[in-house]
Amino acid sequence: MTVETLLAEYQALKSQLNYHSYRYYVLDDPQLPDAEYDRLMQRLQDIELQQPAWVTADSPSQRVGAEPLSAFSQVTHAVPMLSLDNAFDEQDMLDFNKRLQDRLKSKDDIEFACEPKLDGIAVSLLYRDGLLVQAATRGDGAIGEDITANVRTIGSVPLRLQGEGFPPLLEVRGEIYMPRAGFDLLNDKARERGEKTFVNPRNAAAGSLRQLDPKITASRPLQFCCYNVGLVEGGELPERHTDVLQALSGWGFLINAEMRAVHGVQACLAYFAELGEKRQGLSYDIDGIVFKVNHRTLQQQLGFVARAPRWAIAHKFPAQEEMTQLLDVEFQVGRTGAITPVARLEPVFVGGVTVSNATLHNRDEIERLGVMVGDTVIVRRAGDVIPQVASVIVSKRPVDARPVVFPSLCPVCESPVVQVEGEAAVRCSGGSVCPAQVKEGIKHYVSRKALDVDGLGDKLVEQLVDEGLVASIADLYHLHERREQLLALERMGEKSADNLLAAIETSKSTSLAKFLFGLGMREVGETTARSLAAHFGKLDALIKASHEDLIAIDDIGPVSAASIVAFFADAKQLEQVRALQAAGVTWPEHEPVAKDALLLAGQTWVLTGSLETLSRDEAKEKLLALGAKVAGSVSAKTQMVVAGPGAGSKLAKAQALGIEVLDEAGLLEKFKHWGVS
Ligand code: IVH
Repeated sequence: MTVETLLAEYQALKSQLNYHSYRYYVLDDPQLPDAEYDRLMQRLQDIELQQPAWVTADSPSQRVGAEPLSAFSQVTHAVPMLSLDNAFDEQDMLDFNKRLQDRLKSKDDIEFACEPKLDGIAVSLLYRDGLLVQAATRGDGAIGEDITANVRTIGSVPLRLQGEGFPPLLEVRGEIYMPRAGFDLLNDKARERGEKTFVNPRNAAAGSLRQLDPKITASRPLQFCCYNVGLVEGGELPERHTDVLQALSGWGFLINAEMRAVHGVQACLAYFAELGEKRQGLSYDIDGIVFKVNHRTLQQQLGFVARAPRWAIAHKFPAQEEMTQLLDVEFQVGRTGAITPVARLEPVFVGGVTVSNATLHNRDEIERLGVMVGDTVIVRRAGDVIPQVASVIVSKRPVDARPVVFPSLCPVCESPVVQVEGEAAVRCSGGSVCPAQVKEGIKHYVSRKALDVDGLGDKLVEQLVDEGLVASIADLYHLHERREQLLALERMGEKSADNLLAAIETSKSTSLAKFLFGLGMREVGETTARSLAAHFGKLDALIKASHEDLIAIDDIGPVSAASIVAFFADAKQLEQVRALQAAGVTWPEHEPVAKDALLLAGQTWVLTGSLETLSRDEAKEKLLALGAKVAGSVSAKTQMVVAGPGAGSKLAKAQALGIEVLDEAGLLEKFKHWGVS
């Protein structure tokens, strides 16, 4: 092969690879299988090894990460990188609009560009004759850090601009952020390796960019989305901001799909509400909406004040993270005796609600956080997720802060606590002696997915145990013998007592799966209970099962198997089961079913978002009946994700993993096809 033909091949490879990474990272519409892309890249790298002089800054090989730096150098921004003023409510937005109209001396509706405020790191990218020559952080707005080597590794950053018509000198500004699915995978991996996890996608993005070794950055799932231009020389850009962004999109940049131009402040408020609804379903974090006067001549006319332009504002969503004080840590005892530390917090408004408690999970979590009572902590509440203590601000630690001490005796029954080797949880050893475990066990037994005793809420269970009417789940079925005492309870009338006793009576006829779930064996959730019921068909067959019999069942691992064997080997537990049967709890028994014979045997499905025709529970029942496993989270083992409106990070993760996704109509279609109505 002559040098000329090799050079021609090399150049063809370069543009092919750049094009395919654009399809993949910017358009999210790859045209090549990953393996083929890897082959092309390998060939390119082979050629570069032979001809090192050919390698230029826009070679796709540069994305894998150059040699580590010893420090970042400084970059002075020719045009300062400004920040934005904030609006926190409707009035702030109306005031903003009024200021604009006053300055522009016009009462006409202003045309605004609306864009999500991406929660990442602002960066500036400089292109000379279409070639990326420099990338810098915002820094203090005047001087930032040179992160070119790191930014080159980000797939959605064009190393060379496409098409034509771009100014010879063009500074593109935007946000580098980490989509949630990538963030989850990154943290999952860190957790597996026992490493520290990132608190949120923004910290993960910042940490990934701050690496002196670009290879680390290259391994992180970062995105770049542009939202503005800085320095422009030797060329003209369109008059409207939204058209500028469209032009940038044509040159190979990712622009935000939600961007829209609207007329008037009311339309801005409507956009804000619309995106607020959509927010949890987006594949990335946003913390507000940026509204910009769309005409650039008007922007120039309006100018700047201090560090922010007059022509733009960030309308913030309620914060998902707030600072507050840890007042105390209390210990709650769960159904299985697990002792959970709960943070009592100075009440704080976060994620749209007032939070005064947050779980601290277990001892490992307390160690990981390094938290002490009295500390200032960051509380995070995103969407419907339970509030978490995300981190500790150690610099604000008061002198009288005290360590969190795990109790050595159960805070409820004073039995010794035990820590089982290899387990994060610390447990109360009291078992049925511990009123907390008894209460939680009863709450679980009567819950909707178990024996479903209507009208027996948590408060009433606590009263029944505290007043000595019930000391075990089997006692529920003797409550009718103590009607007088029941009536003596606070707020218990004749009618509610009768209803309660009737509901308890009704619960006696159940299914084996519900009964097994209701027993509250450790490691036996709803799905495992169903598998056990389906496999054994009869309770006594399960009671006799050995560890080997159990692990032979699909989706029963050694840990659940050990827990099941231990449960039935415990005389007290077995006595309780027999007492329940003696009290009249029954279910239809059947011969064992060969699960492999079912249509969806061995498959794992995930349901996310809301369904309209079916309820999620109905869909789940049907899938389980077909032999599928229905899981709560998406992993590489998932076969199918059913996503309804409002689907969020699970859908994004499915897409990231290339898992097939069905909508509700698709699911119904399949049910019809399988003859399930
Ligand atoms: S425009 C002069 N647009 O918000 C205009 N900023 O508080 C400057 N940000 O540092 C920025 N999404 O990191 C703009 N669509 C968006 C944005 C956005 C996120 C960040 C950016 C900036 C900060 C200002």
